[in-house]
Amino acid sequence: MSTDFILVTGGAGFIGANFVLNWVAQEGARPVVLDKLTYAGNPETLASLQGDARHQLVQGDIGDAALVSRLLTEHQPRAVVNFAAESHVDRSIVSPDAFVNTNVVGTFTLLHATLDYWRVLDASARAAFRFLHVSTDEVYGTLGPDDPAFSETTPYAPNSPYAASKAASDHLVRSYFHTYGLPTLTTNCSNNYGPFQFPEKLIPLMILNALEGKPLPVYGDGLNVRDWLHVADHCTAIRRVLEAGRLGETYNIGGNAERTNLQIVQAICATLDDLRPGARPYASLVTHVPDRPGHDRRYAINATKILQELGWQPSIAAEAGLRQTVAWYLAHQAWVDGVRTGAYRQWIDQNYSARGNA
Ligand code: NAD
Ligand code: DAU
Repeated sequence: MSTDFILVTGGAGFIGANFVLNWVAQEGARPVVLDKLTYAGNPETLASLQGDARHQLVQGDIGDAALVSRLLTEHQPRAVVNFAAESHVDRSIVSPDAFVNTNVVGTFTLLHATLDYWRVLDASARAAFRFLHVSTDEVYGTLGPDDPAFSETTPYAPNSPYAASKAASDHLVRSYFHTYGLPTLTTNCSNNYGPFQFPEKLIPLMILNALEGKPLPVYGDGLNVRDWLHVADHCTAIRRVLEAGRLGETYNIGGNAERTNLQIVQAICATLDDLRPGARPYASLVTHVPDRPGHDRRYAINATKILQELGWQPSIAAEAGLRQTVAWYLAHQAWVDGVRTGAYRQWIDQNYSARGNA
């Protein structure tokens, strides 16, 4: 018999941990978290749950079939929500192996172990069960300035090893629905921002560099466009898809907030000028550095399907969300210090010294 548990993989990372905290706040129940605790996974993000006997964070790999099977059998979850992934495009360019191992082989292993578990559930538990795979808009490739936004029927055209590995995982999930009937759902979301994001990604990196008076390394001309969504809105969307999404379907999730990278960096600088004024405007730190290879020019999301079918739309306006995020990083120096380990500093040296901006 299935319980009220859900299994959240990658639940100590940025979006996964926000999802777990949101789930606890909204549902009361404690998800079981399986996380490898790579450089990007941080138990401190879930510190508010420590001391709660119902909170379980298991350190392990989604590619470990025996471990995944044991957790499924032991906890009898009614859903698996898969956030576990290598997620940083620049790292996928330097070391693609980990991306294939976790995003492709790991997702496959997790799917197959879940199928074995699901097959022997009783009929009502089998009918209620869901496997929700969290994916990205990067699988669709890149858009020109006047192209229509990505819809669920846009052909896949991934351009980085990260995007290709996520595309492969999406295809595996699709195949497990069509071939075996596993009740799957897939979400493809745009760029997230908000509390607890690892400071290798654009927004936290720029906030922390600015505060330390370091250059703000904008790739290329800075006119690449991303669609930005607050992580809290992404979590609400995932919960809604889990609750009412049609089996085997994919749902695009977006913030309806296309901005160039320069616009984002300038907005961060203006917010810091206001909240933590320095001797000079922070925007004077903006430095153009050599571009990311294969850098997608524009992403944009058509989120009509999730609005029409499930009634979800973003609730946090980009400017307000960005200001709130800057304020969060200002107020959480201890969390920041905890994640900026030696390995983090090594990555920053490796990525930016190659661009002439150590
Ligand atoms: P993240 O890098 O912050 O967190 C990933 C988590 O997965 C970490 O806790 C890490 O320890 C864990 N992990 C990595 N390999 C693992 C493995 N083999 N087994 C178990 N755990 C493992 O990533 P994020 O930004 O939180 O992204 C979460 C998911 O959402 C990813 O699948 C990503 O592709 C997708 N996504 C991210 C964004 C975004 O803007 N960040 C947007 C759309 C989709
Ligand atoms: O679109 C969803 C994707 O968004 C997710 O699938 C990924 O997991 C997530 O990392 C994010 O990918 P991006 O490559 O868009 O995010 P990133 O923060 O690395 O970069 C955002 C933009 O900023 C991108 O155009 C590259 C640029 N950039 C990034 C960094 C780190 C810079 O100009 N300078 C930088 O130092």
